[in-house]
Amino acid sequence: MMRRVLWVTIAGAILMTTWAASGAAAKPGSTKKSSFGKTPDGEPVDLYTLTNKNGVEAAITTFGGSVVSLKVPDRSGKLGDVVLGFDSVDGYANNTSYIGALIGRYGNRIGHAQFKLEGKTYTLAKNNGENTLHGGIKGFNKAVWTAKEVSAKDGQALELTYLSKDGEEGFPGNLHVRVIYTLTDSNALKMDYSATTDKDTVLNLTNHSYFNLAGPGSGEVLSHVLMIEADKFTPVDSGLIPTGELRDVAGTPFDFRKPTAMGARINADDEQIKLGGGYDHNFVLRRKLGDPISLAARVVEPTTGRVVEVWTTEPGVQFYTGNFLDGSLKGKGGISYTKRSAFCLETQHFPDSPNNPKFPSTELKPGERYDTTTIYKFSTEK
Ligand code: GLA
Repeated sequence: MMRRVLWVTIAGAILMTTWAASGAAAKPGSTKKSSFGKTPDGEPVDLYTLTNKNGVEAAITTFGGSVVSLKVPDRSGKLGDVVLGFDSVDGYANNTSYIGALIGRYGNRIGHAQFKLEGKTYTLAKNNGENTLHGGIKGFNKAVWTAKEVSAKDGQALELTYLSKDGEEGFPGNLHVRVIYTLTDSNALKMDYSATTDKDTVLNLTNHSYFNLAGPGSGEVLSHVLMIEADKFTPVDSGLIPTGELRDVAGTPFDFRKPTAMGARINADDEQIKLGGGYDHNFVLRRKLGDPISLAARVVEPTTGRVVEVWTTEPGVQFYTGNFLDGSLKGKGGISYTKRSAFCLETQHFPDSPNNPKFPSTELKPGERYDTTTIYKFSTEK
């Protein structure tokens, strides 16, 4: 008996030493903090690696609150990374495609870089043609967030906070933003967003992860099979600003109500497909009355069997097929991020809502609290 205990202890010690020495995957059910480098201004940036009970791992950096890697099983149980990302903070500082980042104050576009609130016109930076994209020149994706490990009933959680000061990028009000990432033991990455303001403002927060369920570097995502719970989408003009119309998806390449390969109609002779250079459009999500959170989309990757379901409290989702990726960004392990090598499903309020009184409102007033949740649930199919 004694001998057995001794053996187990020695074996355990050897295992622990090898585990520590190899810098291998973290212990199941733990969160590990490490340095991720410094910003160009010398500010230290951290990386938090959350590992759930099944060994599923999500690495998140305080720079832009970006998801750096996300390792989930394929149908044979093999863990593999499913998001694009960079090896260190430098990649994120030069990240022109918002890869993995938290987006704010206003995710997606605001037309003509201005909006009116309470009779006052606010002018923003034109960082996308005539329009404002993803919060302006220095959006939340370029901020260093304050991180704190917090407890969660069903997994590992990390709280990120950021104060966006009154007038930052032209937006009114001191905005206190909090995002809690939870990697659950049922293999979901949950994002709880909340915010308060001291002046009337507009906001639209999202996460801009690029997924390739076969792994970054495995080519185009066009054989991924997608379903979107939307009967309508918001057609756009040449600057990708919604025209205000809610158009039926029926009979268009935007009909994903039945699971369809992303590439099946991506080169269709269709005005909207041409304007987006592929898919880069907001879908109007179906809501089940009384359900606080609904299924927005489901994606299956046939070779690995990996599945992701997107659940959200938001009214819309931007389906983007990485049309602007051109191979110039080099990610983890030196992989070039080429056109359509990943897709995004950015949950959101509709683009340009501040200029579209008919769209669900993105206004937040003092005394109110912004609260949204989005969950990416991973599983596999035979
Ligand atoms: C969003 C936009 C796209 C593009 C990407 C980032 O998905 O809708 O047009 O700007 O972000 O490159």
